[in-house]
Amino acid sequence: MTAVHPVIEAHAARIRAVDPLAGGQDGLPAPGPNEGAIEVVDALGLTSVDRLDPGAMNATWSPLIVHRLWGRAGGRDPEAALGALLDQWLAGLGGERGPDRALAVQWPSRDTAAVRALTLRGFAPMVATAARVRGAAPSGPPAAASRVRMRAAVPADMAVVARLYEALVAYDAQFGWVTMRSSTRARIVESLAPVLRGEGSWCWVAEVDGAAAGIVMVEPPTLARWIAPAVRSAPVAYLSAMYADPAVRGQGVGAAMAAAAHTHIEAAGVATTVLHHAVPNPLSAPFWARQGYRPVLTQWVRHLPPR
Ligand SMILES: CC(C)(COP(=O)(O)OP(=O)(O)OC[C@H]1O[C@@H](n2cnc3c(N)ncnc32)[C@H](O)[C@@H]1OP(=O)(O)O)[C@@H](O)C(=O)NCCC(=O)NCCS
Repeated sequence: MTAVHPVIEAHAARIRAVDPLAGGQDGLPAPGPNEGAIEVVDALGLTSVDRLDPGAMNATWSPLIVHRLWGRAGGRDPEAALGALLDQWLAGLGGERGPDRALAVQWPSRDTAAVRALTLRGFAPMVATAARVRGAAPSGPPAAASRVRMRAAVPADMAVVARLYEALVAYDAQFGWVTMRSSTRARIVESLAPVLRGEGSWCWVAEVDGAAAGIVMVEPPTLARWIAPAVRSAPVAYLSAMYADPAVRGQGVGAAMAAAAHTHIEAAGVATTVLHHAVPNPLSAPFWARQGYRPVLTQWVRHLPPR
């Protein structure tokens, strides 16, 4: 058995004490190409760089160049330890600048003991990984179930599903992390084609009073393995997209869509459903909380000066 680094052990123990659901804190992957390791007193981390092709779908979901720090902090003062780690990382990046470039640090949401170090260095919480454990009851006004008919999307739905998906990207882009690129529309259509043939994610169209007004997409556990380590309770499904047309919002339509999706997800044996939402999103953040989701990991980001 290999010995666990004391910083990783202390970090993992602290996270387990504040959040038994948050996963992925028990180690650090070995550095690969473009990656490096840094260590300071009571903290260590792995650095990596994403360099995205602007024509690829994942370039919609973040800036093109993202420097990432995967940190672990122990000791009596985790804020000071994380602060020293951040300072070492930032010093190593020198005067790195340019358009469409940013820094990102993912940290367990409930480990509030360390995150002041991020705020004081200009990082803002941007993306929450939120989780709903099987059986969580929704709160708020009753869902408008009788007005909403959920049906599996089919190839003939391409135009409406692509339009609503693109509107979701445009809404999210307002917060400054997601970007609507010139390639986004084409990539959306390409990625939806197998889904609408029933070959990938589950995808439903919500008909409200007879007209298509919403979509929900969910990666079943076989496709959601990439995000499963975020939580300690499996099997995991990933709710990748949900959008309700502005004309039907605030009437319980979203709640009805979420309820229908959760019924299907739970019938498939899923223990935990995970999703991402922008922390500043004033619609989705309270909505998902009412549907039984709560943050487990928070991605803190800082854009680099464009020149
Ligand atoms: C998030 C979204 C799907 C919610 O859809 P919706 O149809 O508005 O959802 P609901 O009507 O069920 O709930 C919205 C709010 O209206 C309230 N509401 C529901 N029925 C209501 C009623 N009859 N009267 C008054 N308020 C009502 C709910 O309590 C809820 O409040 P909350 O946000 O504090 O929880 C929708 O706002 C949307 O598409 N937003 C833009 C895209 C987006 O953010 N997608 C999620 C990305 S992660």
